[in-house]
Amino acid sequence: MQHTVLKSCRQCLARIHTSATSFGNVELTSKRYPHLRRGRFSQLTSDDVTHFRQLLGPDRVLTEDLDGYNTDWMRSVRGASQLVLRPRSTAEVSAVLRHCSERRLAVCPQGGNTGLVGGSTPVFDEIVLSTSLMNKIIALDTNSGALTCEAGCVLEATDAYLADHGFMMPLDLGAKGSCQIGGNVSTNAGGLRLVRYGGLHGSVLGLEAVMADGQVLDCMSTMKKDNTGYDLKHLLIGSEGTLGVVTKVAISCPRRPNCVNLVLLAVKSFEDVLATYRFAQTQLGEILSSIEFMDAASQECVSNNLQGGCRVTHPLPGHPFYMVIETAGSRDTHDEEKLSLFLEEGMQRELVIDGVLATDTSQIKSLWQLRERIAEALLVDGYNYKYDISLPLHAFYDIVTEMRQTLGDSIVTCCGYGHIGDGNLHLNMTSREFDGDVLARIEPSLYRWTAERGGSISAEHGLGLKKRDYIGYSKSPGAVVLMRQLKRMMDPHGILNPHKVLPEES
Ligand code: FAD
Ligand code: MLT
Ligand code: ZN
Repeated sequence: MQHTVLKSCRQCLARIHTSATSFGNVELTSKRYPHLRRGRFSQLTSDDVTHFRQLLGPDRVLTEDLDGYNTDWMRSVRGASQLVLRPRSTAEVSAVLRHCSERRLAVCPQGGNTGLVGGSTPVFDEIVLSTSLMNKIIALDTNSGALTCEAGCVLEATDAYLADHGFMMPLDLGAKGSCQIGGNVSTNAGGLRLVRYGGLHGSVLGLEAVMADGQVLDCMSTMKKDNTGYDLKHLLIGSEGTLGVVTKVAISCPRRPNCVNLVLLAVKSFEDVLATYRFAQTQLGEILSSIEFMDAASQECVSNNLQGGCRVTHPLPGHPFYMVIETAGSRDTHDEEKLSLFLEEGMQRELVIDGVLATDTSQIKSLWQLRERIAEALLVDGYNYKYDISLPLHAFYDIVTEMRQTLGDSIVTCCGYGHIGDGNLHLNMTSREFDGDVLARIEPSLYRWTAERGGSISAEHGLGLKKRDYIGYSKSPGAVVLMRQLKRMMDPHGILNPHKVLPEES
């Protein structure tokens, strides 16, 4: 059985999994969101199962022990699928979708199931189409850095392969131990290094996808430049499994830097966070590879909630704000000198209260945990109301303070962290268990607040199920109409990941 286990301590995961939010206790999505309608899809029959067994063989057609596929990583949604298919090739995905299309069977494509918006799990009884077994690296061009691989390649394993050849993946996220490149592309994942290497719309060179009717769309190219016709791959990037199943990806991978350094900074006010951000851009310039922000509440959560073997000891406890700044370059003496000078001057100017500099791999890894493991730590509280908005930097932290005031003691934690270099705030609240009243006090007012400031209601996680009804806060009515037309054209029976991305038509 596949589980969405991130590379992290088993004891902490066990705590999360045995808390009130373990698989069995997660309310069915159809109950928690009673306004959802299943749609006029066919019911799965034993003939369908027999057909799939003939196609894939009995071992790759699962009908039992499906909790890990039906439930999301956050233990916040649970579908009722009775069938999981695990194809190994594009031809098998094509044959599966051809049958599903002819029979009008709904399908939920699934990669590592680390998505955070309820997009990767079925809502009702959609068939789960897992790409986990499609995990072959196909080729690496060591001149250009173009990597071609199957959709099920796990991000961290792919990066390790590239490391052996002097390259790296252009994206990195806390979910790297489980998320897959097909899932990354389908969610247009951002992550910790977007500030340096840009988004996937820039680095994906080509892709292959299977359309709803089983046709294979070949947009594979390993060229940086290809200006021929409409660039269809961009429609698939970020389409969250609603327009096609991504089966192969070609991605431009940068050279692995010779030296990486990292500083953790303690900062006394949000104004100083912004001033430090500007100072880092000027002082570190071309070697800046990541610039992340965390508030005290997120760090207390990491320090207090992760227990046992992987307890994280905070090197600078008790400060209101923190930043993680990473540099990556080609000459260690040059980079270290620049970073030490930045730290020294930052302290002299009293922007930075305290700092820790890490230059070796294990120190760097352990400091990154303070940022990367916040999502995991929050889950230990119980239910996580997770928001991922982009905002102009002058308004970045205001909403965290406002939410704290609005929600008072109806919640356990309210914290803010995120990719400040991309104007992307992760605002998170928790309660012991799901509370519909808390949710109603957050949504839709948070989305309205964000839209009024020109932000996006989903900066990088996508819309999935949980945010689809709020698309109108970030996209114009005309844009949504065109999206619906595209969906209808590419998936006329609506079998691909129904209930996701676009709101139900009234
Ligand atoms: P899944 O979760 O399985 O699927 C996500 C969506 O893509 C679903 O709608 C699914 O139907 C669709 N999908 C998956 N594979 C395919 C395919 N082959 N073809 C078509 N559709 C497909 N996201 C960020 O952007 N930045 C971050 O920094 C970040 N950090 C994270 C940290 C943690 C700890 C966790 C748990 C998640 C994080 N995420 C982040 C969210 C998540 O979007 C990413 O983890 C990742 O991109 C999802 O990949 P996946 O393989 O797990 O996809
Ligand atoms: C992150 O940047 O840590 C992820 O997007 C996950 C989260 O929002 O918690
Ligand atoms: Zn993020």
